[in-house]
Amino acid sequence: MSTKPHPSAANPSSAAFGSLQAAGIILDLAYQSIDQHDWADLFTKADEIGLKKQIESLLTGGLVNTSEHRPALHTALRNLDKKSVLHNGQDVMPAIAEVWQRMDGLCNKWVGVTDLIHIGIGGSDFGPRLAVQALAHSANKTNRSMRVHFAANVDSAELSHILERAQANSTKVLIVSKSFSTAETMMNAKTIINWFKAKNLTSSQIQNSLFAITSNTKAAESFGIQEENIFPFWEWVGGRFSVWSAVGLPIALQYGFDTFKQFLSGANAMDQHFASAPINQNLPCLLALALFYQQGKHHSKAYAVVPYAHGLELFPFWLQQLDMESNGKSTDRQGNSVKVSSPAVFGSAGTNAQHSYFQLLHQGPEIIPVDFIAVKAAMSTLPEAQDHHNALLANCLAQAQALANGKESTDPNLSYSGKRPSNLIMLPKLDAYHLGALLALYEHRAFCLGALWNLNSFDQPGVELGKVLARPIEDALKSDAPLDSHAFDDVTASRIEFLKK
Ligand code: F6P
Repeated sequence: MSTKPHPSAANPSSAAFGSLQAAGIILDLAYQSIDQHDWADLFTKADEIGLKKQIESLLTGGLVNTSEHRPALHTALRNLDKKSVLHNGQDVMPAIAEVWQRMDGLCNKWVGVTDLIHIGIGGSDFGPRLAVQALAHSANKTNRSMRVHFAANVDSAELSHILERAQANSTKVLIVSKSFSTAETMMNAKTIINWFKAKNLTSSQIQNSLFAITSNTKAAESFGIQEENIFPFWEWVGGRFSVWSAVGLPIALQYGFDTFKQFLSGANAMDQHFASAPINQNLPCLLALALFYQQGKHHSKAYAVVPYAHGLELFPFWLQQLDMESNGKSTDRQGNSVKVSSPAVFGSAGTNAQHSYFQLLHQGPEIIPVDFIAVKAAMSTLPEAQDHHNALLANCLAQAQALANGKESTDPNLSYSGKRPSNLIMLPKLDAYHLGALLALYEHRAFCLGALWNLNSFDQPGVELGKVLARPIEDALKSDAPLDSHAFDDVTASRIEFLKK
């Protein structure tokens, strides 16, 4: 990884293709059309907010989660060379390495497991679910031919679909929750235990089938999980940054611990780039500055991310939590109101996306910046794979070109304004290493955007109110007693009345 300034680094939008590169991932900003002068202003802004210092603070355990007075040390989870990382004066690496060892041990131990059910939601679900799907075509599955299922939703439809297919006697369950108190996860866990009982498993068989991954190990023990089946992580790992911890266990169990290590290693390479590259060549910083610029220029309330890789179909869901839970805020780090924070993020896999919302991207009155993500190598073993892949990549390049250049017509309905910004992010292949690097790239971009908007990117107080309000509604729905009309507003009370009839 070179940190030597590239001649066109002063204007990254004009940098030669491939010159902005980290951990094998190429960033092409050409269609951002940000001129040299505007890039210079953006770099000045980065200097003014002390972005370099903020990055250093993030990576060295500074209390960047200001409301909860915690560091956000997820980068330590992928610090494979185990160089010490201090939290409250203590090196966190020995505890992390111990969990790696236990994960590796479990990968070697399991024989005859037909089904693995991962129960968790939000950060305890999106990352591992994405990675298991993304690597399905490229990583070697371990030879245990195990089905991996994910259940997040409290809607029993998701779990029931899994339980119809799973073989109870040879099923293992991971209950994944940082807090070990999330309502959806606890309810799904209890339903699975009932299912085991209904299938006549003994208590000790059930106990041996249940595993917990949590930072609240006491709660997991009280729930009845055996100590040796509890994999800890720590409160300084934000939920949406937890895939690098034992939360990523399904990746290791399905594809082997070495593949999981590759995943960590790609992320670690991106961390090193983030720590050392100057801002004008630093991929996460450039991505953040470009979105910050386009948002300011076009007042965009949304941006789209479109992976041209079916394996990355779930990437937009993972990114939605990362970006919007981190930076969808209206209070800055000092408690003042802010008018601008994260745009809404949406996306889906190309080319399907083209037949959905691309009309709006091309001709809607609002300019919506787009991140195109492409993979150079084909992702299937069909004899026609390369033909499909050429068509896939051609579509990706063509859409970016159409957005940028547009097309004039005397018929306004047939004209395309063009000048619609996009990035191209190119992976050489969709393997564990580059997937890890891609996720880390976006994690660091979210941090830089938080810095630019002066937000604490590591809390999520806005998700609490709805959770609290749901409890009495659930109680009312369950109860046979007449509804206490003073307990709810009129709208909610009449909805509850309707549901209870
Ligand atoms: O959605 C709120 C949230 O707290 C997320 O931040 C978190 O990823 C998710 O719930 C699940 O939390 P837990 O891992 O504690 O079950």
